Amino acid sequence: MERERFYAMLQKKQEFDYEKYLNTEQLLTAQKPYDELCNKDELQFQIVHQVEELWLKLIIYTLLDINEYMEQGNTNRVITLFKRVHITQRMMIDQLSLLETMSPKDYQSIRTQLGNGSGQESPGFRALTLAPQSLWKTFKTVYLDQKDLTIEKIYATEYDHSDTYMIAECLAEFDELFQKFSYHHMQLIYRSIGFDSKSLKGRSVELLNNRTRRKLFQEIWDVRTQMTDEWGTEYGVVRKSLPNE
Ligand code: HEM
Repeated sequence: MERERFYAMLQKKQEFDYEKYLNTEQLLTAQKPYDELCNKDELQFQIVHQVEELWLKLIIYTLLDINEYMEQGNTNRVITLFKRVHITQRMMIDQLSLLETMSPKDYQSIRTQLGNGSGQESPGFRALTLAPQSLWKTFKTVYLDQKDLTIEKIYATEYDHSDTYMIAECLAEFDELFQKFSYHHMQLIYRSIGFDSKSLKGRSVELLNNRTRRKLFQEIWDVRTQMTDEWGTEYGVVRKSLPNE
């Protein structure tokens, strides 16, 4: 196949409305030129990171809308938009596995291209880490305090699968998928550079493991533990086996 012909097709000036609307010229030249790529995996490496940044942009945009709909008490909109966020988070997790097709040796060549760069400098990720605080504040004001509810009431003593419960579960799903991303990212790190190796900033990559254990909405997880402990007190922590037939 003639490489040059295909390359030229992807880098042509915008002509059609489709190309203009999607800004394809800028989009398809946002990666290194082919002749500057350090190996056959670098294009994939750059594209996966760029796509992840775009998904993060969409997630943050959607979370801002969710926050406004929560302020208005528009539960249906909140739930629909959370569904969008959750699907996007799952795609972000799935896309990490593309990079598992890159060998550790090929990654080492790419690493030399990164300068002192680190995922911790990701604009999307940095913005995302600020969102949970605002979401929780609005949820607490509108769906708990104004309705004289608590997390304990909606999950246990006054459980009725209410709007507040549904949104709490959306927050739990967001939190769980955030942790799952961290977990899969950690596996990708092990696969590419090994356990306990040094990151580009010279720190042990194991430090990132702390992130996978931290919850964004602690109360929603604590209530489960409290309920299980209470049931344990009621039924006994160690229960009798089922009788034989
Ligand atoms: C082979 C691929 C990858 C490797 C080897 C890798 C490695 C690392 C390492 C070593 C760190 C710790 C940074 C430090 O301590 O300075 C890090 C952080 C990070 N990486 Fe990656 N990464 C990869 C792919 C990705 C991809 C595709 C994303 C997509 C968004 C990503 C997002 C992040 C983020 C957001 C952080 C900061 C995490 C935090 O602070 O909790 N990484 N990565």
